[in-house]
Amino acid sequence: MSAVLAVRVARKTVEAEGVAGFRLVAADGARLPPFAPGAHIDVALPGGLVRQYSLCNLPSQDEHYEIGVLRDTASRGGSLAMHDAVHEGAVLNISPPRNHFPLDEGATHSLLLAGGIGVTPLLSMAQRLAALGADFSLHCCSRTAARAPYRRRLQGSAFAAKVFFHHDDGPPAQRLDLAATLGQPAPGKHLYVCGPQGFLEAVRATARELQWAEAQVHFEYFAGAATPAAEPGDFEVELRNSGRVVRVPASLSVVDALAAEGVAIPVSCAQGVCGTCLTRVLCGDIDHRDLYLTPAEQAANDQFLPCCSRARSARLVLDL
Ligand code: FES
Repeated sequence: MSAVLAVRVARKTVEAEGVAGFRLVAADGARLPPFAPGAHIDVALPGGLVRQYSLCNLPSQDEHYEIGVLRDTASRGGSLAMHDAVHEGAVLNISPPRNHFPLDEGATHSLLLAGGIGVTPLLSMAQRLAALGADFSLHCCSRTAARAPYRRRLQGSAFAAKVFFHHDDGPPAQRLDLAATLGQPAPGKHLYVCGPQGFLEAVRATARELQWAEAQVHFEYFAGAATPAAEPGDFEVELRNSGRVVRVPASLSVVDALAAEGVAIPVSCAQGVCGTCLTRVLCGDIDHRDLYLTPAEQAANDQFLPCCSRARSARLVLDL
């Protein structure tokens, strides 16, 4: 992480079955940098891991940040470290908030769709929209009611009538009907979706079928799910500035292959989610495997996320 803020865990709560909430305050008692709905922070965890978590509190509450963390035993350890090794009073290093998932506050209607713990950035958005008196609805999907993060808080909020819960084990009538919920696109109507990859893809596919404009569909992948598996295949990357050529074996990412040759590219999530490693590509055919670039940006074939994306051609020429 470039800039680092030291924060203290002021409160740790249970926000659903398997979900812990953390209230973070500046370790030195100072005010924390402001943020807008949709922002996330990088958290440096015990054991050297860095993970991104969305801020879920009302942005004006700049005396603290709140994050929610799902305990995911299939993860690479980040969520387990947060659940098991981070307690009230612990001091953590975090990055200042960054926002790849901004809210359009001028929308005529905002439709917020959450899959599981993907509710966290949408919770911040809902509070902001409610404070603005804006028209919105929030749909929260989870396997069971007990696993719906922040359910009690949402049900007790002033905007509870705009919140709808959908549970896999509930009666059919309450299941999320995606096409009916999305409805027809309209000027000023914006869709925000956050959740695991399958949820995200289902919502985006339905939005495409209903001919929503890409500019009105905003999404953020929640990194709790597995990232697409890399397929084997060697290729080369050429560094434009030096002319050096580095072989990328099937077992290594471009970032790792370059690091082995002494060429460092800044990395944060290492999962194609955050955009930190974004690199311009001058020549070659990219095999995009990230969840950060939009389909249009991927189709332009002029930039990629070398922590996870690869090449379809024998060589990529990078602007490095
Ligand atoms: Fe996050 Fe590459 S480091 S996208």
